[in-house]
Amino acid sequence: MTVLVTGGAGYIGSITTRLLSERGFDVVVLDSLELGHRAAVTDVPLVVGNIADRDLVTKTCKEHKITDMVHFAAYKAVGESMADPGKYFDNNVTGAHALISAATDAGVSNFVFSSTASIYGDPDIVPVTEEAEVRCESVYAATKRMTEQILEWYSTTRGLRSVSLRYFNAAGAASDGSLGENWRYSQNLVPHVMKALLGFAPALKVFGNDYPTEDGTGVRDYIHVEDLAESHVSALTYLHNGGDTMMCNVGTGVGTSVMDIITTTERVTGRTVPYDIAPRRAGDPACCYGNPARAKQVLGWSSRRSLDDIIASAYAWHSAHPEGHATQA
Ligand code: WQD
Repeated sequence: MTVLVTGGAGYIGSITTRLLSERGFDVVVLDSLELGHRAAVTDVPLVVGNIADRDLVTKTCKEHKITDMVHFAAYKAVGESMADPGKYFDNNVTGAHALISAATDAGVSNFVFSSTASIYGDPDIVPVTEEAEVRCESVYAATKRMTEQILEWYSTTRGLRSVSLRYFNAAGAASDGSLGENWRYSQNLVPHVMKALLGFAPALKVFGNDYPTEDGTGVRDYIHVEDLAESHVSALTYLHNGGDTMMCNVGTGVGTSVMDIITTTERVTGRTVPYDIAPRRAGDPACCYGNPARAKQVLGWSSRRSLDDIIASAYAWHSAHPEGHATQA
């Protein structure tokens, strides 16, 4: 069996691609390289192109005898999705549909999709379960939910079985220091903590310290990117064993505040994180962390790495690659 990984030159995609190879899957990457990096794809074939290019997807599936797909390629900046919704609907929904339909026509039978916990918005109850109401508060979140729905309908009508993995907050880097994120393209907390710590920004902005949480700062579920990568292996294995289409949280079950991240970073690195308290960021929920019971029960997956592992790996990666893969030898 051969897996096509879209977005396999990106942050989570490259780490998952390498793990799939290590676990004995034959892997091919499809990436436009608009935001991904050629240097992040080693030892597997890289097809440069867009998911919306049906002819290319069909040709790639045929040429490489693709049986399975793991789909990461998407835009993921929440703020940008509100400023330029068309860009997100075009790529994340129309492009995803072109990919899903071409893949189904080409005989792909198993599909794993990068969805997001941001479809829960500000949940009433935490840890949030998959049964919670969907409350998309951004175009980005809506595009992910729409793609989940496309996959549900392709399961019903065309027999394409899929797992939509609802990621909580991916963070950290490959533990050997070779793959990670570029803070220039990220709005996320951990890269910005590292940027401030390493002196590439004057200070971290802490977006709000008046939330109804224990220390007043936002609470999230930070999951090590290597644990996240493992969930894709588990999802493919589940589908190969005949598992039904489903969606599933991928988180740790533990809530961590922005201040917890700062104090953990200072303890793990021995360095000070300069920070200022800034106004709340529009659209940010106070508290969102996930109940990972379904992933454990159905996929046999649970997170193994700690917050210290997340911070240590991010620190090693960003210290050595302040320009992301651009500074990779
Ligand atoms: C985490 C916490 C911020 C930056 C978003 C998407 C979600 C997922 C991950 C995927 C919040 C605070 C952040 C900073 C801060 N998407 N913060 N200063 O908002 O939970 O989730 O990214 O691709 O779909 O919605 O993640 O890392 O941006 O923020 O104080 O400079 O850190 O307010 O409490 P978020 P985040």
